Amino acid sequence: MPRVPLVVGNWKMHNTVAEARHLATSLVRSDLPSGVEVAVCPPFTALADISRLLTGSPVRLGAQDVFWEPRGAYTGEISPAMLTDLGCRFVIVGHSERRQHFGENDEVVTRKVRASFAHGLVPILCVGERLDERDAGQTERVVTRQVEIVMAVLPADQISPLVIAYEPIWAIGTGRAATGQEANRVVGLIRETLGRKDATSAAETRILYGGSVTPANAAEFSHQPEIDGALVGGASLDAAKFLAVVNAHRRSPV
Ligand code: PGA
Repeated sequence: MPRVPLVVGNWKMHNTVAEARHLATSLVRSDLPSGVEVAVCPPFTALADISRLLTGSPVRLGAQDVFWEPRGAYTGEISPAMLTDLGCRFVIVGHSERRQHFGENDEVVTRKVRASFAHGLVPILCVGERLDERDAGQTERVVTRQVEIVMAVLPADQISPLVIAYEPIWAIGTGRAATGQEANRVVGLIRETLGRKDATSAAETRILYGGSVTPANAAEFSHQPEIDGALVGGASLDAAKFLAVVNAHRRSPV
């Protein structure tokens, strides 16, 4: 099965409900290209409203994080079932900002991936190296390890529905994106890593690039053979910019 490109907007800690509604309304009213799946991940506080607003639209809903337990005394946390209840299809897991500011380690990330699948959510697993790791020539080692840890516990039938986002940390929010070639090489490596567990499934897994994706550079990534879409932060807060990134992922008809 060919991999359908996926473009995901990660709104991070931006937008009140009113602002989120304004942004989502612009997306819903625009002409979205066929052949590209589009999702937005508003903050938790706006999920219910945006879910209602997206009813009948092809734009899918995602959350930015999730807790792994189904319920209980976990003050401040949100369970997978609470997200599916609001109509979420996707959830970002292990974003580098969560790893960096909230101490999420690979074990936590793995639990979240498993819990997401167990409740019918599609996890978007984020991996990527820090600048010092890149400079030390450790990109391959770091990224492979991050993927292998999750693969060790994931059943083979969950490899193809999984979405992975390769997000070099030095490229996130810095305006300094990787080159298309560089990103394609690492994404290819991630696919190889998945393939060691199940090659057929690995060929179907969507692997996105994220990190300073803009309308100006989106095509450089979308044209790479291994890259199946984008996880977009800053540029997703502006409907016109986000749509331009989406359009750059339209596959020309064959
Ligand atoms: P950015 O963020 O596009 O603002 O670099 C990407 C991300 O963090 O997912």
